[in-house]
Amino acid sequence: MAASSSPLAAAVVVAAAVVGLCVGGGEAQLCEDYYDCTCPDAYDIVRRVLIEAQKSDTRIFASLIRLHFHDCFVQGCDASLLLDTVSGMQSEKESPPNNNSARGFDVVDNVKAALEDACPGVISCADLLALAAEISVELSGGPGWGVLLGRLDGKTSNFDGSLDLPAPTDNLTVLQGKFLKLNLNDVDLVALSGGHTFGRVQCQFVTDRLYNFSGTNQPDPTLDATYRAFLSQRCPQNGPPAALNDLDPTTPDTFDNNYYTNIEVNRGFLQSDQELKSSPLAQGTTAPIVDGFATSQAAFFTSFAQSMINMGNIAPLTDPSVGEVRTSCRRVN
Ligand code: HEM
Ligand SMILES: *[C@@H]1O[C@H](CO)[C@@H](O)[C@H](O)[C@H]1NC(C)=O
Ligand SMILES: *[C@@H]1O[C@H](CO)[C@@H](O)[C@H](O)[C@H]1NC(C)=O
Ligand SMILES: *[C@@H]1O[C@H](CO)[C@@H](O)[C@H](O)[C@H]1NC(C)=O
Repeated sequence: MAASSSPLAAAVVVAAAVVGLCVGGGEAQLCEDYYDCTCPDAYDIVRRVLIEAQKSDTRIFASLIRLHFHDCFVQGCDASLLLDTVSGMQSEKESPPNNNSARGFDVVDNVKAALEDACPGVISCADLLALAAEISVELSGGPGWGVLLGRLDGKTSNFDGSLDLPAPTDNLTVLQGKFLKLNLNDVDLVALSGGHTFGRVQCQFVTDRLYNFSGTNQPDPTLDATYRAFLSQRCPQNGPPAALNDLDPTTPDTFDNNYYTNIEVNRGFLQSDQELKSSPLAQGTTAPIVDGFATSQAAFFTSFAQSMINMGNIAPLTDPSVGEVRTSCRRVN
C-alpha cells in the first residue's frame, strides 16, 4: 500500500480496506488491495490450488484464462459463465461457444472451496477468475500484473449474450467490432489474441481452412502449406471433430510471443488469428501491432498485462443491491 502523506488519508485508507472498498471517485471501480484486510492470503491460496491442479492437467492454465475472457465478454466480469443451468435460466456454459469447449469448472470449484475455507463469503467468483487468469499466465512464463479486484457476482447467466462471443471464423472487421463494443481497441484485440500462445483447440475449428475455405472447396490461401499438411494429418477431412491440437505447436504450454512469430509465417491456427496479419484491412491497423509483438516479447508482455486489466474492467458489478459474493460459483446464494 502506498505511504499516505497525512494521518487523515491513512485513516481513510485503513477504514476502506477493513470493509473491502476501493478508494476513489464516485464511479464504481476496482483496486488491487480490495482483500488485503479481509483475505490477505487469497492470491497465495489460488496459486497453490492451481499449481496442484496443473500436475494432472497440463492444459489447465490455458483453460482458466479463457474462462475469464468468456466471462468478461458476456455482460461483464460477473461470473455469469459459472452458473449452472436451472429451470428458467439456461447457462452460458451450454451455449455453442462454450459447450464441450470451455473447461476448468471443477478446478474453479476447488479454488472456491479453498477460499471459502480460509475466508468464508469474501472472494467473489468473478475476482477468482481474474486472479486465476493472472496466476496462470505467470506460472506459464508470461508477465505478471496487479490484478484489480472488488467485483461482485451477478445473479443471471446470459445464454443469448454468449452467442455473440468472437468466433474463429470472424473476419477482422467483425473481430474489431466485437472488441470495440466493449471499449477494447486494436492493441487490445491483438494483445489478447496472444492468449492463443498456449492451450488446445479442436479439429472442427480448422477443417474449413484445410478443405473448404468459405465454401471454395479449397484450403485457406493464407495457411502455410507445410503447416496445412501437418494439420491435415492431425485433422483428416472426416476425422473426429473434437481431436485436440496445440494452438502454438512451437511451445504448446509456454506463455511467450511465438503466437505472433507463427502468424508472421502464416501459421496461425484459427482464421481469426491469421486475419490479424493477413486481412487486406490489417495493413496499417493490426498487422503492424502483430509485427511489433513478433519482434519484441517485452512489448507483447507490457501490452498484454494492460489489456488484461482493460478486459477485467468490462462492466464491473460493484452494486451490492444487484450482485453478491457467491458461496458456490455454480449457483446464486
Ligand atoms: C479474438 C477472438 C477469439 C476467438 C475467435 C477465439 C476462439 C477460440 C477457439 C475456437 C478456441 C478453441 C476452443 C476449443 O477447441 O474447444 C480457443 C481456445 C483458447 N482461447 Fe481463444 N479466442 C479468442 C480470443 C481469446 C482471448 C482474448 C483469450 C485470452 C486472453 C483466449 C484464450 C484462449 C485459450 C487459452 C484457449 C485454449 C483453451 C484450452 O486449452 O482449454 N482466446 N479460442
Ligand atoms: C451440450 O453438450 C452436451 C454433451 O455433448 C449435449 O448433450 C447438449 O445437448 C449440449 N447442449 C446444448 C444446449 O447444445
Ligand atoms: C466480414 O464478415 C461480415 C459478416 O460475415 C461481412 O458482412 C463482411 O462483408 C466481411 N468483411 C470483409 C472485409 O470480408
Ligand atoms: C463446401 O462448402 C460449401 C458452402 O458451405 C458447401 O456447399 C459444399 O458442399 C462444401 N463442399 C464439401 C466438399 O463439403
